Amino acid sequence: MTDPRRPRVLGRSPRRVDGPAKVAGTARYAGDQHVVDPAHLHLVQAEAARGVLAGVDVGAAEALAGVLAVLTPDNAPRLASAQDRELAAFQSHEVAFRGQVVAAVIARTREIAREAAALVRVRIDEQPHDVRLSADRDDLYAPEKVNGGAETDTARGDVATALARSPFTLDQTYTTAWYVNNPMEPHTTTALWLDGDLVLYDSTQGVHTTRESTAEVFGLEPGRVHVIAPHVGGGFGSKGTPHVHSVIAAMAAMAVPGTPVKLALTRPQMFSLVGYRTPTVQRVRLGCDAAGRLAAIAVDAVSQTSRIKEFAEQTAVPSRTMYAAPNRRTTHRVAALDVPVPSWMRAPGECPGMFGPEVAVDELANACGVDPVEFRVRNEPDVEPESGKPFSSRNLVACLREGARRFGWEHRAPAPRALVESGWLVGTGVAASTYPVNRTPGSAATIRCTGPGRYLVRIGAADIGTGTWTSLAQVAADALGVDFADVELRIGDTASPRASVAGGSSGITSWGSTVVAAAEAFRREFGDHPAEGAEAGAEMPEDDAADAYAMHAFGAQFAEVRVHVDTGEVRVPRLLGVFAVGRVVNPRLARSQLVGGMTMGLSMALHEHGVPDERFGHVVNHDFAEYHIATNADVPRVQAHWVEEHDPHTNPMGTKGVGEIGIVGTAAAIVNAAHHATGVRVRDLPVTLDHFL
Ligand code: MOS
Repeated sequence: MTDPRRPRVLGRSPRRVDGPAKVAGTARYAGDQHVVDPAHLHLVQAEAARGVLAGVDVGAAEALAGVLAVLTPDNAPRLASAQDRELAAFQSHEVAFRGQVVAAVIARTREIAREAAALVRVRIDEQPHDVRLSADRDDLYAPEKVNGGAETDTARGDVATALARSPFTLDQTYTTAWYVNNPMEPHTTTALWLDGDLVLYDSTQGVHTTRESTAEVFGLEPGRVHVIAPHVGGGFGSKGTPHVHSVIAAMAAMAVPGTPVKLALTRPQMFSLVGYRTPTVQRVRLGCDAAGRLAAIAVDAVSQTSRIKEFAEQTAVPSRTMYAAPNRRTTHRVAALDVPVPSWMRAPGECPGMFGPEVAVDELANACGVDPVEFRVRNEPDVEPESGKPFSSRNLVACLREGARRFGWEHRAPAPRALVESGWLVGTGVAASTYPVNRTPGSAATIRCTGPGRYLVRIGAADIGTGTWTSLAQVAADALGVDFADVELRIGDTASPRASVAGGSSGITSWGSTVVAAAEAFRREFGDHPAEGAEAGAEMPEDDAADAYAMHAFGAQFAEVRVHVDTGEVRVPRLLGVFAVGRVVNPRLARSQLVGGMTMGLSMALHEHGVPDERFGHVVNHDFAEYHIATNADVPRVQAHWVEEHDPHTNPMGTKGVGEIGIVGTAAAIVNAAHHATGVRVRDLPVTLDHFL
């Protein structure tokens, strides 16, 4: 099969294979699946943040024509496992956060279900609640581990002494806001039971992980749960861990035997039911010498979790990787509040966790009079500072240099508030990005010859808008030594072999390694001229390199910010990022991911801000009218580039993930540019105009 004249498949930009179906509207998302005569479900949520359900009066709702049933804690079936309290729908009368589901109406149409849901009368014996996150709470606790299984605290050397001896020090607190995952497609499930098997058309980042969590909740053999998700309209992590709505959809389908049930969350419901990014408080202490060499780095991070389920954001973890310093400390403390369950949102940990430290570095660089690009270059470590492992590849300096060149950094005035253009203060800023190369175990793939020169590759991977349908087929074609057009990929269905979740930017590393192993097995067994029907498969191979090397992608982001002298209006006319992400499988798709991440970072910096109301315990601005997300007019020019990077250790393709790194560091670059424009240092996101007035 291998023909040296054949054009390489990796590194080219075939268009999305699913693009035409999406543009034509024929791609079926979870809510679009054709099922016979479905019923529709609408959820009723608690309007108190803490208490005990005293009664749910469903009389008026049930009396409405077209209502089939109303589920409540008084009549819902008992689940086999209520261990995951986020998923334990209707299993107790306790209300643990405002927005918790307390009833669900099944009706003939979506409209009737919604109308009836408004007629359900819920009485809650309220108890005092507490949703106030602060670093001075006396009930903060140290979780056993933080997200991703990382250590809660680390310490090296003597930070206090090093700070006392440093001629330049910084001790500041930075905060990031409550951000909500808002993929375009709301969380949607179509559920039906067929001879005791459960079929879920679910908007999920992992069909097999959804199968496994659902099977456990219902006490089913995993093989009896079929999850299908060929197209997913975004997730940003909110479809990566299981949430209660899909459990309720399956429960509802049980309540109306023989009838499939469709559930689509409303946008406001997504603000309490599908996870969100916890607000964080980050105290950063740095000390350096007159040349800008860091002697000490300490990051103490505080975040919130819910009372019913712990999620501990790994906010201080990226600081363990970024800069050299002999004395260092990181800690994580968590407050368990009467709030919805936080979870993954694009680059959990790295995204909020690179905000405080990357602004702090800018502040300290200014204090000691070293250019912020140069400051970062001077603090490059030889090995990963806290693990002592060599980097499989680390090209942060190349990103900083290439970014500075492309951006025109050399023309920058060193002092802030140096440039005014037609009433706008103009400034520029820089920040670094990093994201680990994650490899998730537990994938398998099969390859079958379906005709002369035709190959079917099956793996239960997900395409959440990232381009897996295309990029993973490229990996397969490359490994088989055939043309892209010769490969048909089958993903998004538990009928294919098990795949890990599309999370942690681990997709191409994990699924790609698996597909490459399957292609190798196939070629070993059948050579380059297989007969029709020849089939082979493989599981994801073990990987020792992960123990030997620290594997991370890096990047440098540059921002131009304009702040209006009179109104304080903040604009970001230009963002430029240069990334080191290993080999790029598909430049068109990779650029889309990086630009998308940077755009989301801009949105985080300027607009997004879930505002909790302590009196009632919810995010008050829970819709698109009031939770602002950057629109086209807010995003004039975002450019993403990458440096050549050959990493022989990450995986057989030499790739690093591109899904999340784009959002890491953007907000810090914008805050640093805003300071350069105005001389005002913003330490609390978002960067709103009142900071400058
Ligand atoms: Mo990503 S937040 O790990 O889906």
